Amino acid sequence: MVNFAMVSRLIIQLCLAAAIAESVVAIEWKPNLPDTEQFPLGSYVYEQNCQVCHGPRGDGRGELAETLQPKPRSFRRGVFKYGSTPPGKLPTNDDLERVVRNGLAGTNMGIFGDRLNANEIRAVTEYIKSFSRKWRDPKNHAPPVTVPSAPSWWNDPSAQVEHASAGARIFAVSCASCHGDKGDGNGIAAATLRDQWNDPIRPGNLLSPLLHSGNEPKDLHRVLLTGIGGTPMVSFAELLTVEQRWDVIAHVVALRNAALADAEKKEDEP
Ligand code: HEC
Ligand code: HEC
Repeated sequence: MVNFAMVSRLIIQLCLAAAIAESVVAIEWKPNLPDTEQFPLGSYVYEQNCQVCHGPRGDGRGELAETLQPKPRSFRRGVFKYGSTPPGKLPTNDDLERVVRNGLAGTNMGIFGDRLNANEIRAVTEYIKSFSRKWRDPKNHAPPVTVPSAPSWWNDPSAQVEHASAGARIFAVSCASCHGDKGDGNGIAAATLRDQWNDPIRPGNLLSPLLHSGNEPKDLHRVLLTGIGGTPMVSFAELLTVEQRWDVIAHVVALRNAALADAEKKEDEP
């Protein structure tokens, strides 16, 4: 027989389980507010290594900045390009550290992984947060987006060809005006694009061997969810379904593989 006491105990248990599940999520993610204890070391590292380009006040106007394209980032608006968080949210510490460690191929943002140790990189990325008030408000922080796992057809070559041709049709409509039919970044709108800092910006060359956001299919999918902050590359999280996103990624991967094979053939020629 089910009596009132049993039902209410069950309800309490369910509530407890829900509360525990929620607190697990809460424990895993914390907003990465500025860690001011890191500022003394961070400001030293910044002066020695970053200031020439990013400027003493973090406004991107260092001595070397004038002639660079793209321009060094201004840290004063708290807008970043290569984050793993939803559009409009600040990047995670990992995102910032990755950029400083690996640099941004094809730009003047160099590789610091061989010059600075992990503590120095940690400290300087905290120090960057001192330039914008946005970092102090937890509302501007969010956990990274969850990239859906690859569909079952991904490892089946003939299915991938089919999905890539569906993806080619989506690409022609949604991407080619900027990235060009071939994905080389020369679409009809490419020359006119500007970023939030009002500087001209080129759409990424999707055939580049080193994409800034990473080369793996899951990296491509993440960019389609996050967009690229401060640029006309918006999030496609709402504009395309998850199936359409994987299809268009299959097409981009096919374009990249073809370009890579071409480059290798040229190298082999006498
Ligand atoms: C020689 C010039 C130069 C130096 C030195 C330099 N940077 Fe940069 N940095 C750039 C440029 C240019 C960009 C913009 C690249 C782009 O927009 O794609 C950039 C972008 C960045 C970004 C933005 C990434 C994003 O997601 O938007 C961070 C963070 C950064 N630099 C940190 C640093 C730190 C920390 C140092 C010192 C350890 C440093 N940079 C030194 C030129 C430089
Ligand atoms: C309105 C123009 C525009 C459209 C439309 C557009 N992009 Fe972009 N995209 C850009 C710009 C600009 C960048 C480069 C930002 C940067 O890194 O400086 C970019 C960057 C990217 C990158 C990252 C490249 C890297 O080096 O990490 C990927 C991947 C990408 N786009 C894929 C797509 C796909 C797929 C579509 C269609 C579903 C699309 N884009 C539609 C403008 C656009």
